[in-house]
Amino acid sequence: MSWFYRTCVRPVLFAQDSEAIHDRTLAFLGLCSRKATLCDALEAFHAAPRLPIKVLGLTFPNPVGLAAGLDKEARAVPVWPALGFGFSELGGVTWHPQPGNPTPRLFRAIPDEALINRMGFNNPGAVAMAQTLASWRTLGRWPAHPVGLNLGKSKLTPLDQAAEDYANSFRLLAPLADFFVVNVSSPNTPNLRQLQDKSALDEILAALQEVNRSGGPGREAQPKPILVKVAPDLSFEALDEILELAGPRQLAGIVATNTTLGRPEATDPALRLIYSEAGGLSGKPLRARSTEIIRHLHRQTRGRLPIIGVGGIFTAADAWEKITAGASLVQVYTGLVYEGPSIARAIVRGLHERMLEAGFAELCEAVGSGEGVR
Ligand SMILES: Cc1cc2nc3c(=O)[nH]c(=O)nc-3n(C[C@H](O)[C@H](O)[C@H](O)COP(=O)(O)O)c2cc1C
Repeated sequence: MSWFYRTCVRPVLFAQDSEAIHDRTLAFLGLCSRKATLCDALEAFHAAPRLPIKVLGLTFPNPVGLAAGLDKEARAVPVWPALGFGFSELGGVTWHPQPGNPTPRLFRAIPDEALINRMGFNNPGAVAMAQTLASWRTLGRWPAHPVGLNLGKSKLTPLDQAAEDYANSFRLLAPLADFFVVNVSSPNTPNLRQLQDKSALDEILAALQEVNRSGGPGREAQPKPILVKVAPDLSFEALDEILELAGPRQLAGIVATNTTLGRPEATDPALRLIYSEAGGLSGKPLRARSTEIIRHLHRQTRGRLPIIGVGGIFTAADAWEKITAGASLVQVYTGLVYEGPSIARAIVRGLHERMLEAGFAELCEAVGSGEGVR
């Protein structure tokens, strides 16, 4: 399937503008999402074997998830398990609806199997997101795997009011998803990454945990796991400062990593031109740095804080590298664009094989084992 996608389907898709084809694909998957028979047909081709793991107090049918930013509007929620994903992270969503940056804002660096984006949190806002999520439940189409929500800061909210902005979204959305990711690492909202500073992040997490403790209007407190997503461009010292908040602010885990502002060497003039675009780089060139960050976080926390590994995962070997470096779960974005819809199934199958080869009875034994060092 991956061969068929790469040789027959991908060239047709890549002949079109990257954001336009993304929108068309999601519109198609949104249609499939409304019909159980179409989801069943997708599942028949793409279902992944079970490779369960318990993390964040939740049971994941397999450790391969959909990364944030791909389904920003929750348009295709029921399709993601049918495509073999063990969980999905929807959004990023901000309190205020916003159009994002002017187009073009998504570019393919094909020779390096990478993307550059400066989307800027284009999304319908938390209120519309809440309605969409509620409607999937009403339709009886809510997926049987854990669903996370990625929270961003509205562009028009000043940095010093960020905590309230995040808390407003969280208050409304907390009952509607299984876990939450505080995104302070997107390079595409001016100064957002400053919120990775310990004191700013502390304020945001304090506000969210206050909501978590008090519950919402008319409902019992049902604390939801809150994770922080970090940039690959942070120093180990800056990461360590974030880790200092884990205990006091009951952090459930870290998502490592977002896209990078770095660029690989490129001799080809066409590629150099693409790399001169502003925005965050994802895909293969990000793989090694993101694994380095995961390994550091795992070492510093002695494996006590769950890590979701993301960045340049295309194959089972890539996912195994992240898991054995310390990630309990992994996510894919750019790999799905380049490898096609059978990527989750292929990765889960390959992980299962590697697990047996290494003599592990359960996937959790592989986490941080150091087996997959390349
Ligand atoms: C077009 C695009 C939009 C993204 N939007 C978000 C977002 O809204 N929130 C977020 O935390 N990460 C976002 N990301 C980052 C991905 O979730 C992921 O961390 C990153 O792309 C690295 O993974 P990959 O190499 O598998 O793509 C986005 C990535 C891309 C390519």
